[in-house]
Amino acid sequence: NNYFKIAVLPGDGIGPEIISESIKILDVIAEAFQYKFEFDYGLIGAEAIFKTGNPLPDETLKICKESDAVLFGAIGDPAFDNNPEAKVRPEQGLLKLRKELGLFANIRPLKTYASLIEKSPLKREIVEGADIQIFRELVSGIYFGEKFTDPEGAYAYDICKYSREDILPIAHMAFQEAQKRSKKLTLIDKANVLDTSRLWRKICQEIASEYPDVQLDYMFVDNAAMQLILNPKQFDVILTENMFGDIISDEASVIGGSIGLLPSASVGESNALFEPIHGSYPQAKGKGIANPIASILSVAMMLDHLHLHAAANKLRQSVEHAIENKYVTIDLNSKQYYSTSEVGSFIADHIKYSEKSYYN
Ligand code: IPM
Ligand code: MN
Repeated sequence: NNYFKIAVLPGDGIGPEIISESIKILDVIAEAFQYKFEFDYGLIGAEAIFKTGNPLPDETLKICKESDAVLFGAIGDPAFDNNPEAKVRPEQGLLKLRKELGLFANIRPLKTYASLIEKSPLKREIVEGADIQIFRELVSGIYFGEKFTDPEGAYAYDICKYSREDILPIAHMAFQEAQKRSKKLTLIDKANVLDTSRLWRKICQEIASEYPDVQLDYMFVDNAAMQLILNPKQFDVILTENMFGDIISDEASVIGGSIGLLPSASVGESNALFEPIHGSYPQAKGKGIANPIASILSVAMMLDHLHLHAAANKLRQSVEHAIENKYVTIDLNSKQYYSTSEVGSFIADHIKYSEKSYYN
């Protein structure tokens, strides 16, 4: 099969700018590798609220359900962040989409690039060679439990609930990933306080015997936040629940030098969505300064998901080529930098020309 339907949801802030670089890349890949991608665009987030009143219009959900993969930009708008009274929020669009598509596992790889080590706020010897794969549960826990705000404003609550069925599939995935890597899995939780965390531990312990080659460790999330900065190289695969994963992955993202480099894949039984881990960065909207690499590397994860591994590897090589040759946006080099679309074009051209010579 070389025909794929891709749902494209640019979303808010810098979303549209970085997504158009990813489309540029996919066009070049389609040509070089003889694939055909059909792009179906949909509204989501603040953009969708302004135009339709709904952060996830039915039409958008339909496009996504019928797609082979969803390419997602970013979500969020300061008009809502600063208004706690807002009933409809952009983020609800993404959360509902994750839930409706059953995207239970959010995979966030973190790696370091030799030429960017100096950009890390941490010392060279601490970060050099760090390589972590985070598995964050994405459709349960406190994000999706019952919530309530007392009309008088005196109290509110959010319930964190996990069932065995919520934990098992992602736990198996994380063990299997650890088998392919350094065979080390760390479950990050708060089992000294939370019942849900104790359930995570119990289930991981139960299935650990199916993966005798994997070393399973546990770490409390407060300590993990510290250990990630003290010694990130001790981690290989991390498994954690929804909210801890949200927090830990933003923290981990600075290790490599910029959050603008980190992609993610959210996968379920029959759908998958690919998005940068960064947000909508509204201050940069329309300025052409946003780093497109996190979105472009999300495309590489999407290509792998579609079993187009040669194209995915080629794309990653071209991204590394851009980084090594300092063809980067302002977040990675404030003295000499290129615009969002210049970086996208540089990567696209590298794919095009190096791939042509390969075929000739
Ligand atoms: C992320 C984001 C989202 C989350 C927001 C936008 C709802 O921070 O993908 O990490 O909290 O999951
Ligand atoms: Mn987040």
